[in-house]
Order: sequence, then C-alpha cells, then structure tokens
Amino acid sequence: MQMSFDYAPFFRADLPPAAARWTGFPEYNFVGGHNDADGVPVAALADALTNVMQRDGKRLATYGMGYGSLGYGPLRDCIAAMLEARAGMATDPDNILITTGSLQGIDLVNGALLAPGDTVIVEAVSYGGTLSRLRSLGVDYRGIEVDGDGMRTDHLAEVLAALKQDGVRPKFIYTIPTVQNPSGTVMSVQRRRELLSLAAEYGIPIFEDDCYADLLWEGERPATIRSMDQAGQVIYCGTFSKSIAPALRIGYVVADWPVLSRLLPLKTDGGCGALEQMALAEYCPSQFDRHVDELQKTLREKCRVMVGALEEQFGAAAEFSAPKGGIFIWVSLPEDVDTDQLAKAAAAQGVLINPGSEWSADANSGRHRLRLCFGHPSHETIRAGVARLAEICHDEFGVPMRSANVER
Ligand SMILES: Cc1ncc(COP(=O)(O)O)c(C=O)c1O
Repeated sequence: MQMSFDYAPFFRADLPPAAARWTGFPEYNFVGGHNDADGVPVAALADALTNVMQRDGKRLATYGMGYGSLGYGPLRDCIAAMLEARAGMATDPDNILITTGSLQGIDLVNGALLAPGDTVIVEAVSYGGTLSRLRSLGVDYRGIEVDGDGMRTDHLAEVLAALKQDGVRPKFIYTIPTVQNPSGTVMSVQRRRELLSLAAEYGIPIFEDDCYADLLWEGERPATIRSMDQAGQVIYCGTFSKSIAPALRIGYVVADWPVLSRLLPLKTDGGCGALEQMALAEYCPSQFDRHVDELQKTLREKCRVMVGALEEQFGAAAEFSAPKGGIFIWVSLPEDVDTDQLAKAAAAQGVLINPGSEWSADANSGRHRLRLCFGHPSHETIRAGVARLAEICHDEFGVPMRSANVER
C-alpha cells in the first residue's frame, strides 16, 4: 500500500523524525554499547527462566507480579546483595526501582528534575545519549575537565563558584565515575570525596551513572559515591546491559523514597518486562560473578587487539590511554582531522565510529577525537576495520602519513 494520507499537520511541531530506517549493521561497527555475542550466557539464562517460571510464573497474571511498581521483588533483593558485595554499597531493596535499561532511569531523573533553561554539570566528555537528551530538553550543560583520576574537582569548584555568582544553581552533577564514557577513566576515591563535599557545600544532587563498573578489570572497584553519602544526595543508576546483555533492557535506579516517589509517576509503562526480570533474579545470585570474570577476560583481550590495531595502523597519529575496563577506546587524532567528516566518509565505506563532537560538552573540543567500541566485533573484524579506517583517514586528511611505517 502506498500511504497517501498526510500526517504532517497532526504531528507535534517539535517532533523530529527518526534519521532513517534500520538497514542492518555495517561491516565494521565500532559504535553502540553492544556486547560480545558468545559471552551472552544463553543456556544458563534459559535454564534460569524455565526454573523461575515453573515456580513463580503465575505471578504474570498481575501487573507488577504482586510486587508493586518498583519491580520484581527477588530482582531488587538480588541487586541489593550484588551492590553490597561488589560495590560496597548497602542498599535497601525498597530503594531500588527497576527500569527499562538505565536509559529509562536517566529519562525519569531528567523528567523529575529538569525544565528548559536549567543547568546541569557534566564531565567535559560524556555519554552522547545523556548530552543529546539534555539538549532536547533545552537544558544548558557545563563540562568539567577530566584527567586520569576522573572529573577534576578543582575545575568543578571554579565552575560552581562562577555559577553561584551568576545566581545559577545547577540541578545536578552527572558523572560516570567508574570507566567513564568515553574517556575510560576511573575516578579516584579522593576525588569522589571532594565531589561529594562540593555537592554538599553548594547543595546540589549528584547523579551517578555506574553503567560500566562491573566491567572494570584493572585495579579495585572504588566505592560508589552514593555509598559515601550520608545525606541521600546521590541518585545512582546501574544496568545489566553491559554485564549480561543490552537487549534485556533491564537497568535500575537507587535513590531514597522522596526521590523514587517523584520518579514513579513518570514511569507510565505499567512495569518492565517480567521474563527478563525473573530470569536475571534467578541467574545472578549464583552465576553473575563468575560470568562477569569471564566476560572481562574476553573484553580485555578485544581491547588489547584494538590497541594493537590502532598502534599498527595509526602509529603516533592516534593518542589514547588503554582503558581499565569497559568496551570502548577514546582516541585523539591530530587537530586538523575533523572526525565528523571522517565519520561520514567512513560510514559510506562500511565503518561506523562515534565522532568526538557528539561525546563532548563543547562539541568543538571533541572535533578531532573519536570513540571506538570493541565489545561486539571479533578480533579479525577489529583488525580489518581499524585498517580500513586508517586508509579512509589517510585519504581524507593525509593522516596517518604513509611514511609512518604503516603496513597494509
Ligand atoms: C554511561 C551510560 N549510561 C547509560 C547507558 C544506557 O544503557 P542501558 O539503557 O542499555 O542500560 C549507556 C549505554 O551505552 C551508557 O554508556
């Protein structure tokens, strides 16, 4: 059927259409938080689901499965136990709200706290999904410089003081402290304390997004900022997307009731899917730790392959620090490489990359940077895709130079 009806006068005037229909993944897909396909514990999840359905399946007859609107009770118990054991954060299961991925958590927190014209503090490089949400909400954001120890609290102090002088009280400080997206840095415990004390001094909530913390493979996992907080000033979100599988769409927000009670009226979906909540609740208590240990080994190896490919193909033209966990590398190219242009040229040849402008509070400062995800592609695809990217970059910008002893 050829659609002839014109909806244009009926759509909301401020609603942009989706960019394009899905046409499948390109040959070399280095974007998106996809996971290692062989790392998904398919059989164990299927067994877990069968067991829990046989035992508890009749609960599907009611919205919320008889546990109310916060989510499946055994999953909230399990998350509380995992946060205590893995992140040193004692948590009441009644302070946990199960969400459709942490993206829904971010939307709920934004929805409860933000209005157009508000100001939010973010790390100078930050999760593109959060930055684009803030932009579409008409919220102003200020980027705080990040170094090897995470958000620079001396810079934060300066920015907060200047904002105060202008009569601006930011609505929250959004941080990804552990395996920061995209820089891969891990905020030191000292910085966490300083951040908390500045937030207390200026009376501003912190929104702690701990998306990648389970994937930290080097060094101790630092205590969460929320666990150091005595005042309930930190809203925390986590997810199973990176540790188990993004398509499950299960994340969670941890906050005290005065906050949760403002998020719940915005969660109008009638509850998250029951099967994935039940499967996780059954699977995780006995198998999560071992699974994540294995996944970390796989990802660490893929990271090593991508580091090797970057060194081999780009030589000194690509600057980066190998991350201590996670699924991406944040790369700086020489200043004259415009990664918006590179991303377009690469996409036309089957290589998808995240241009740095989309992951930077100040788009211009990220113009010569890019983010490359290594969680999903195979070793071979990583090697071949980085080689293809280097060729495209050379053709567009003369970088890397051919004389840099680059083998192709
Ligand atoms: C920092 C950060 N937060 C949140 C998300 C959203 O993840 P999900 O909705 O799958 O839990 C992502 C996804 O990549 C992310 O990188």
